[in-house]
Amino acid sequence: MKPNPIYAICNFKDIPSRQAMGFHLMIVDDDGNHQPWSIIVVRWGKKVLGYANKCPHSGVNLDWERNEFLDPYGIRLMCGKHGSTFELGTGRCVEGPCLGGALTPIALAVLDDDICVVGVHLVEDDASANN
Ligand code: FES
Repeated sequence: MKPNPIYAICNFKDIPSRQAMGFHLMIVDDDGNHQPWSIIVVRWGKKVLGYANKCPHSGVNLDWERNEFLDPYGIRLMCGKHGSTFELGTGRCVEGPCLGGALTPIALAVLDDDICVVGVHLVEDDASANN
């Protein structure tokens, strides 16, 4: 079985500590189809955490203003639509209409100062630039 590749999505320093950034990527699903895949990367000191950018309440992106993911205190992720808030470390909804739900975690790794997604197949830009 082919090992899953590792994709660098940004440099570790591109995201300041205690900030979150969104990435709109394309994934290859199990049937070989290309699907948009929007993720949130949170950096907290040396730690990085990834979640699908999809609110468990109604499936929308959390950021209604681009890259605005944190609550006013900067300690939780927040959905801009109805204000649900999520623990940074677990993605668990702790307040709002999706209380009891959770964001889907995304596996990340930091390799050579790059933040990488692992365990998925992404559509790579240069592979699709054929026209
Ligand atoms: S869509 Fe996110 S809280 Fe309603």
